[in-house]
Parts: sequence; C-alpha cells; structure tokens
Amino acid sequence: MPLARSLSVTSLSGLEEWDEEFDLEDAVLFEIAWEVANKVGGIYTVIQTKARLTSEEWGENYFLVGPYVESNVRTQVELIEPTNPALKRSIDKMNSSGCKVYFGRWLIEGSPYVVLIDVGFTAWSLDRWKSELWELCSVGVPWFDREANDAVLFGFLTAWLLGEFAAQCEQPPHIVAHFHEWLAGLGLMLCRQRQLPVATIFTTHATLLGRYLCAGNVDFYNNLAEFNVDKEAGDRQIYHRYCLERAAAHCAHVFTTVSQITAIEAEHLLKRKPDIVTPNGLNVKKFSAMHEFQNLHAQSKSRIQEFVRGHFYGHLDFNLDKCLFLFIAGRYEFSNKGADIFLEALARLNYLLRVNHSDVTVIAFFIMPARTNNFNVETLKGQAVRKQLCRAIFFSGQLPDVSKMLDKEDFTIMKRAIFATQRQCQPPVCTHNMLEDSSDPILNCVRRIGLFNSSADRVKIIFHPEFLSSTSPLLPMDYEEFVRGCHLGVFPSYYEPWGYTPAECTVMGIPSISTNLSGFGCFMEEHIADPTAYGIYILDRRHRGVDESCNQLTSFLFQFCKQSRRQRIIQRNRTERLSDLLDWRYLGRYYIAARHMALAKAFPDTFIYDPHEPTQTTGFRYPRPASVPPSPALSRHSSPHHSEAEDNEEDERYDEDLEAEKDKVNIRQPYTLPFKNKSNA
Ligand code: UDP
Ligand code: G6P
Ligand code: GLC
Repeated sequence: MPLARSLSVTSLSGLEEWDEEFDLEDAVLFEIAWEVANKVGGIYTVIQTKARLTSEEWGENYFLVGPYVESNVRTQVELIEPTNPALKRSIDKMNSSGCKVYFGRWLIEGSPYVVLIDVGFTAWSLDRWKSELWELCSVGVPWFDREANDAVLFGFLTAWLLGEFAAQCEQPPHIVAHFHEWLAGLGLMLCRQRQLPVATIFTTHATLLGRYLCAGNVDFYNNLAEFNVDKEAGDRQIYHRYCLERAAAHCAHVFTTVSQITAIEAEHLLKRKPDIVTPNGLNVKKFSAMHEFQNLHAQSKSRIQEFVRGHFYGHLDFNLDKCLFLFIAGRYEFSNKGADIFLEALARLNYLLRVNHSDVTVIAFFIMPARTNNFNVETLKGQAVRKQLCRAIFFSGQLPDVSKMLDKEDFTIMKRAIFATQRQCQPPVCTHNMLEDSSDPILNCVRRIGLFNSSADRVKIIFHPEFLSSTSPLLPMDYEEFVRGCHLGVFPSYYEPWGYTPAECTVMGIPSISTNLSGFGCFMEEHIADPTAYGIYILDRRHRGVDESCNQLTSFLFQFCKQSRRQRIIQRNRTERLSDLLDWRYLGRYYIAARHMALAKAFPDTFIYDPHEPTQTTGFRYPRPASVPPSPALSRHSSPHHSEAEDNEEDERYDEDLEAEKDKVNIRQPYTLPFKNKSNA
C-alpha cells in the first residue's frame, strides 16, 4: 500500500520547500531523445548531466532510449543483458521481428540504462510507416529529407518498444515517457493514437520555425504573433517537420520547454502554451579546496599558451602573459549564435586597444564545426616548429658549457629549429582546410573587417571549425579544459532557447557574455540582482538595434580588457559562486513536477497533481555581492608599487569576504516533492 502523505509548504528566500513522500515504486520512466549517447548539441548535455539525479530518483526503473550509433557505443556504452524482465521480453520480441535493439549502461555519472535502436536496420519498413503516417494525419515526409526519415523510423520503433513493454508487464504499469525535441516527437503521437497506458511529456528545446526564421533576415520577436506559420514552414520546406513538432506538442499530456522566452515563442508558433518551464541544469561538482578551479584555470591557460606560441611562431611579438583568451563555441549558426556581432565587436575592440596603446592582446577563438578536409599545413607546421624548438631548448637549456656538451647533431637541430621559426606569411586565421572557404560566413566576415592576425592588430582570430578533443594533434584539450583556460566566453546569441555554453562557463568560474534573448541570460537576469558583478554580462539584444548591441558588446569587451589580474581572479571567484543556481539538484524539481503532472493526467484514478508544485522559476533572487565590485577604476594595478604577490594576498581576503557572503544565501534547501496517490489523498 502506498504511504500516507502529508504536505508541508514553507517559504525560504522566496523559494518554497516541499516536504512530502512519494512512492514511485511501480512507475517506470523512459526518456527518449535522438541525442542519448549521441552528441550533437545541447540536448545531449541536458540528458547526460541530468542522468545522475534522475537515476537516483528512479533507480532500476529509469531507461533512456536513443539511436544506436556504433562509434558512440564503442566509446560510451557497455552493452549488457536487459535487467528488467518485461523489457527483456520486449527487446527479444522486437529483435526476432527484424529490429536491432540493444541494451546497455551509458558510462556516465549515474550509469543509466540505455535502450539503443538501430534505425537503419529497420529502414525496410520506412515506406510502410510513411504511408501509415500519411493515412493517420496526412503528413507526407519527402524521400530526400534524411533527418525526417530517421525521425519516422525512430518514432515508430520507440512506440513499438513502449507498446510491447506495456503488453509484457504482468501488472498494468504506470509508464512515463518523456520525449525530447521534434526528432523524437512521432513516438509520442503514436503512443496517444494507439492509446498506450503511457503518461507523455514533450520538451521542445527550440522551435523549428523559430530557428529558421531567426537565421533569415526577420524581425522575429516583434512579429511573433503575426507569422502565418503554415506558410512560413512551407516556404522553408520544413512543413512536414513542423507538423511532427506541432503534433507532438499538442498530443503530449504535458508540454514543456527550457525557458520563458521559448515558452512565448512556442505559444505563438506551435499554438500551445507550455505547462511548465524546465530550465536546463548542470551536474555541478564542488572542489573541496576553494582555489582548485583557479589552479585549473592556470594549468589549462598554460596549455592554450603553448598552442598560441606554435600558432604565432615567427610573429610572437606580443606578451603571452598579457594575452586574454576569449571564445565562442557551439553549433555553427552564424547569426543565431551571434558570431556576426562578435566579429564586428572584435574589429571595434581592435581599434580601441590600438588607439589606447593597450599592452593587452586578445585572442578570440571560434569553435564551431564546419565542413573541412583536415588541418591545414601551416597550422600543423606551427605546432611542429614549437615542439622542435622545445626539443632544441631542452638539449641546450640546462647545460653549463654548451660548446663542450653539445655535439654537431645538436647544433644542427638548434639551427634548423631557429631557421624554421622564420615565416613569410601571417599566422592563419583558420586551423583547417575549409570545404566551403569562399562562402564561409566567418571567413567572409574576417575578410571584410580585415582582422588577419597582423602584428599591428591587438585582436587576433583563430577559427577552429571542429569541436575540441583531447586526442587532437593540434590542440589536444577537451572542451572543458579549454573553457577553464580561457578568460571570457562570448555568446551574443540572437536565437538561443537556453544556451549551455555560458552556463558551463559559470560553473567553471569563467565569466561570460550572453544576451537577454537567450534562456540562460533571462534566467540569470531574473535570479541575480547584479549579474555583471558576478561576471555574467547580459547583452541587450531585445531593445537595441544591431549596431547599438554591437557597441555595448564592444564596451563589455573593452572594460574586460582593462581589468587587472587581481580583478579577474576576484571576478572568477564570484562567477563560480553562482554554480548552485544552475545545479540539477535545484533545477531538477521542474522535471519532477512535469512527470507528476503527466502521471496525474494519464492516470487520474491513481494520481493527483498538487498545484503547489513549482511550475515557474520565479521567486528567488541572488543578492548583490557584499564586497566592492571589481571595477577597473578601483584597480590598484595602476599603482606601480603594487606587486602581484600583494594582489594574491588580497585575493585571500576577498575569498573570506565572499565566503561570509555565501553563507547568507543558501538555495540548496533539501526538498522532496508533493505528490499524492489518489487512493490516500
Ligand atoms: N560543446 C562541445 N565541444 C565543443 C564546443 C561545444 O562539447 O568543442 C558543447 C558544449 O559543452 C554545450 C553544447 O556543445 O554543452 C552546446 O550547447 P548549447 O546549448 O550552447 O547550444 P546548441 O548547440 O544546443 O544550440
Ligand atoms: C589563477 C591562479 C593564479 C594565476 C591566475 C591568472 O587564479 O591561481 O596563480 O595568477 O589564475 O589569472 P589570469 O586571469 O591572468 O589568467
Ligand atoms: C537547443 C538550443 C539551446 C539549448 C539546448 C538544450 O539546441 O539551441 O539553446 O541550450 O537545446 O536545451
């Protein structure tokens, strides 16, 4: 028998705390997404980082469902026999009917179970399923749209799996199926159409139309209510995808999205208002030593410096110690991600640094995957020369009498190394050979603004058109290490339902620039009294024109360049303090509420949803920092007598300050959620 439940609601710092017990024992959760164990963009990050918390809550009854991609499975998944007998029978049955369905553990924190479906193996059913779809709802998927074809296969296969599982359970199960994004949406529609005993949730991480419209030349936010959605989708040849997305949103028991701004967009473009906003969290790891993340910054920075040393060989006429590393990263959507205004602002910053005779050099990295055929020779040569030079210095550096200790061969190595450092051409902007070099938007913009890494430029550009990897021969760092080593993440997006990249910077203690058109930017604006004081710069792209936003961005960048090292250290400490706000331990509650709401809608005889559950993220505000904000005007670096050692001493004191300040806010209240089984309501 389920436990008797009592509800107590208390208010603390504006956040309500629930104290309730709930027995989920007989319920099973399936979470379905194309990015399960398959990295494409931010949806992968949602699922991967949330897994630990969801596994803790659902234990053996939590299954992620995604596509089978051999290369991913080899590195991320341990294939095992299905643990749940009903699920094992379902998988066996599907496999004996011409499918290839695998079961395993995803090797990430929380080790969740994954069911991976090889959609290609069942491609023989595509035509049949497409006609079924057409008969069902008159959505015709064209043969040439590979992604939509995959969505059809994935949809029919996931619905098959859930139907089979429901049939194989001895007791009528309480299944919750949470589908992410349009690519998984058809499975949800079919669950409803087949009347499976499944509580369904659909989370959209963007709207297809929103993404397409914004990428074009459209005044999106002022015209949200005006778009003729069918026509716009048709004009962009995404009508079939749009139908799948809109149908999933309408069929779901509970419809959610990742931010308030996307909720408004969904209401207009998908014609359903989301029931709950489920903001994206991260799996925040706290170091026991306060300075650990600062140390990691220093370590990673020196690795980036090594790379820069190689990249700029022969032109290293700037002080690496006075170099600031800025970066933008993400899927390559030039204007949606704000790479356009970032480049423009860099050109203006270059001018400002030059006329002000600044000794700071800015290196701006663009990490956005594009089509390439490998690294370019000049870039590889740079790293090779650096390594050769290191070797030569290693041979000679430590020795007392070089002429006696070095033999002829060593001298030849040194001579060759020194000769190799002479270079006629400028350090390359792009690290790879681009397949569409002449039409590439970043390269074309660089050509227009003329930032070619010349000596006179105070702003240099490095475009790395591939996601980072620790196995790269060029820049062997994974993305997290790279972010830690940088000084500022710049994400001036125009279209960004959430935007994980600035959130990831925050939990690593790296300041960032986002915008008031991104879910993350709006969330931080809502929850922090003075975001800038914490190194969270929020660009106004809502009320200003492009040129004005660009000026504001330039001003943020210029102010940042004027900070002293001490100020940057203090700012990083502050940024890192905000991590709790982005932790799934706090934000996971919205997912929990969505599941409860769906269970109550699908199984009204068994479950009741308590309207006190959080459906809005409003109510909590992080106060201004108690200590003085790090303004360049207050910098004691302007005093020639002020040493770095003194700075560091002062940092310790600032840390104590901040420690005290931290104690004043605690958003990590323990909580369990109110949810009642109807039987004991
Ligand atoms: N990312 C990555 N490697 C890189 C650059 C980015 O793994 O070299 C990841 C980053 O950690 C983030 C995701 O890509 O989690 C991008 O997510 P975001 O929500 O910012 O944008 P999306 O691509 O989903 O629009
Ligand atoms: C961290 C390290 C310090 C180092 C500093 C460099 O705080 O703990 O030892 O001096 O980073 O900061 P910067 O902003 O100049 O990279
Ligand atoms: C989408 C959005 C991005 C968001 C991610 C995860 O890809 O473009 O802004 O962070 O999904 O929700």
